[in-house]
Amino acid sequence: MTAPVEGRFIAFEGGEACGKSTQARLLADALGAVLTREPGGTAIGAQLRALMLSPDTHALDDRAEALLMAADRAQHVAEVVRPALAAGRHVVTDRYAGSSVAYQGYGRGLPPDEVQSLSQWATAGCWPDLVVVLVVPPSVSVLRLGGEHDRMEAAGDEFHARVLDGFLRQAEARPDRWVVLDGDRPVDEVHHAVRAVVRERLQLLP
Ligand code: TMP
Repeated sequence: MTAPVEGRFIAFEGGEACGKSTQARLLADALGAVLTREPGGTAIGAQLRALMLSPDTHALDDRAEALLMAADRAQHVAEVVRPALAAGRHVVTDRYAGSSVAYQGYGRGLPPDEVQSLSQWATAGCWPDLVVVLVVPPSVSVLRLGGEHDRMEAAGDEFHARVLDGFLRQAEARPDRWVVLDGDRPVDEVHHAVRAVVRERLQLLP
């Protein structure tokens, strides 16, 4: 008997307004994949997202924030990611565990390895086959974000510089799974680069 074929799991990561939502959608379309996101990829997650990103939630403790992100992820994996992969669908997610390590770990200052372990527990060890980090200069994110900022976007330049550093360090530590791409290019060019990586790393797409 042959083993059932599982889909492949791809995550887009990066700082604010780096273009990952657009690129996740384009890749999901090209692959016929399930497109999802964190936080907020489920009905329960949508409530957690609204709570976590609201500027009214200014009293949220850093560890509480990490646990809420992990709760969103646990629900997302149980309800969306794992069932889709098990059914042989590819899954493309706009943010995943790398965001917790970058934002709650490097950004907020919680130990990154502990934040990583929290995701390991929350997802029962569900890790992407490929993580694509899109990098844009801070000046470009500011321009793309415009005037209204949610609680994370409003966290300040130094915070966001640490977050970017957190993504780059994760990519450096896992070159077999992580790829960093320049997001400061026209959408089509970035998509072309993403397709090339997916073709080379996962042998998907013609
Ligand atoms: P988005 O608006 O890019 O979808 O992301 C929502 C915000 O949530 C963004 O500022 C990054 C943040 N975030 C974390 O801080 N930790 C996480 O684990 C995830 C998934 C997102």
